[in-house]
Amino acid sequence: MTDIERPPEQCDETLKNCVDNLGISQIDRHVFICADQTKPKCCDKAASIEAWNYLKTRLKELELDRVSTESPHIFRTKANCLRVCNQGPVLVIYPDGVWYRNASPALIERIIQEHLLGDRPVREYVIAEYPLPQP
Ligand code: FES
Repeated sequence: MTDIERPPEQCDETLKNCVDNLGISQIDRHVFICADQTKPKCCDKAASIEAWNYLKTRLKELELDRVSTESPHIFRTKANCLRVCNQGPVLVIYPDGVWYRNASPALIERIIQEHLLGDRPVREYVIAEYPLPQP
């Protein structure tokens, strides 16, 4: 049975469970990275996939990809293109609104340690900083 065929009340429960299991209400930061692009314009596609896999693996190893009282909860999303299309992989962290260029595995490790865990952006790779306005 697909979601479309599912009765609305059952669909709502499935959706609620998904949201709860992901800990969406407890996300501290959300990282988007341009990777596995349909049209790789900012970097080599293989390099972007390597960066994405590194990000996923390290967040999991450090247990930052789940809700915990010990560490921040970091969500990650692979974006097809972040529209900068230069010096990629391009990576952005919200709610900070900090944009990075050349997000290689080595830089991602620094971003994790210095920015996500230490609250200090890796300034020499920041290309823009624009926190979204608070609602
Ligand atoms: S292809 Fe990477 S930002 Fe557009």
